[in-house]
Amino acid sequence: MELTELKRRRKALVNKMAINSIAILSSANRNFRTRDVENPFRQESDFLYLTGISEPNLLFVMFEKDNELHSILFRDNTSEKEKIWDGERLDNSEILDSFGFTAVFNYKNYIEKLVDLISNKETLYIESGINEDLDNFISNNIANSSMNNRTGFSFPKKVIALHSITQKLRLVKSQYEIDLVRKAAEVSVQGHMAAMKKAKPGIYEYELDAEIKYVFNKNNMPFAYMSIVGGGNNACILHYIKNNSILNDNDLVLIDAAAECNGYASDITRTFPVNGKFSEEQALIYDLVLESQEKAINFIKPGITWDELHSITVQTISKGLIELKILKESIEEVINKELYKDFYMHKTGHWLGLDVHDVGEYENILFEPGMIITVEPGIYINKSNSNVERKWRGIGVRIEDDILVTDDGNEILTNKLPKKRNHVEEICNNNEN
Ligand code: GLY
Ligand code: MN
Ligand code: MN
Repeated sequence: MELTELKRRRKALVNKMAINSIAILSSANRNFRTRDVENPFRQESDFLYLTGISEPNLLFVMFEKDNELHSILFRDNTSEKEKIWDGERLDNSEILDSFGFTAVFNYKNYIEKLVDLISNKETLYIESGINEDLDNFISNNIANSSMNNRTGFSFPKKVIALHSITQKLRLVKSQYEIDLVRKAAEVSVQGHMAAMKKAKPGIYEYELDAEIKYVFNKNNMPFAYMSIVGGGNNACILHYIKNNSILNDNDLVLIDAAAECNGYASDITRTFPVNGKFSEEQALIYDLVLESQEKAINFIKPGITWDELHSITVQTISKGLIELKILKESIEEVINKELYKDFYMHKTGHWLGLDVHDVGEYENILFEPGMIITVEPGIYINKSNSNVERKWRGIGVRIEDDILVTDDGNEILTNKLPKKRNHVEEICNNNEN
């Protein structure tokens, strides 16, 4: 990662920290799928944001003293055993320079050094629940704070959640971060295109998932989240990840899948007909979702709020469902009593970044240039919904794009993936089977 970017982030954090304070961050832990079979390591996002290092067993400490920023990494060099089993990692002396730390100390026995660093600081910024040893150290010291003076060690009086600062920093993306989301989005677009071309009646949801993962793997990108590939009524199950059903003629398939590039997520959903042709009812629902999505996207610019954006998709979908006679009440009733939630039960979108549902508040935040969000309205008419005519049942549609807020409006980072109904059909019929 670029050193200037890392230093900028660290400086921004320290600028927001209280006087005479210290921040301590723990790396993520190794995690296991079964007994000794390890999952791919994913660094904790704040830690990655501030250190750029994707390894477990690290601690990062930051504070300012005499107007100088101290950024200290605790890390052990590769042991002889690790060299045999896992291979050699960069040496601490290389890490010191290339990641711009002011010091690198051994991770083993970090507590001793930490006591020195924390002592006499007034405020400690930390995130609990990641490093059990560190949590115990902190809570024991809070419990025994009256002993401090006797031992000459004075524990900070205030302990504040670090994310109260980092979530604000991470909300507005730098050009470096935008480029990574853009790269992730480009590969995700390719994955979706491959799946659209491959789809046909009789194949299985996991086969489309495999097409997408092949594209991600070929580009050396992991998936940002478990893919959803839901045919027919499975599209109405919001967190469907089994992806093990057959795709039937005359059904739609909803795919929510995306790649991650150097820790930055993209997040895309498209819905298309398994046989390459939307039925009349599918087309009506699809066009309504698309209309609401495009209206919302067109509204995105600096100064707007999530509430305003959400009310656009709610209004459009509610009005459309009334016109289609799927909802029979007045628009006022549908909105005031939230009757639309029978069919559109989630929010319009979310922040996007190092986490797919990225950190940041939603209430009363005005959009600013550099923020990245998803816009992903949907309509889901479950097959068990006996309140609607049979012809609508089992249709689930969501359309999701990634949007960068710019100075004068917005840019759709996932624009290369078609979503107009005729364009989608064209790609589906450009079958490569
Ligand atoms: N893929 C997760 C989401 O759309 O929010
Ligand atoms: Mn999303
Ligand atoms: Mn999604």
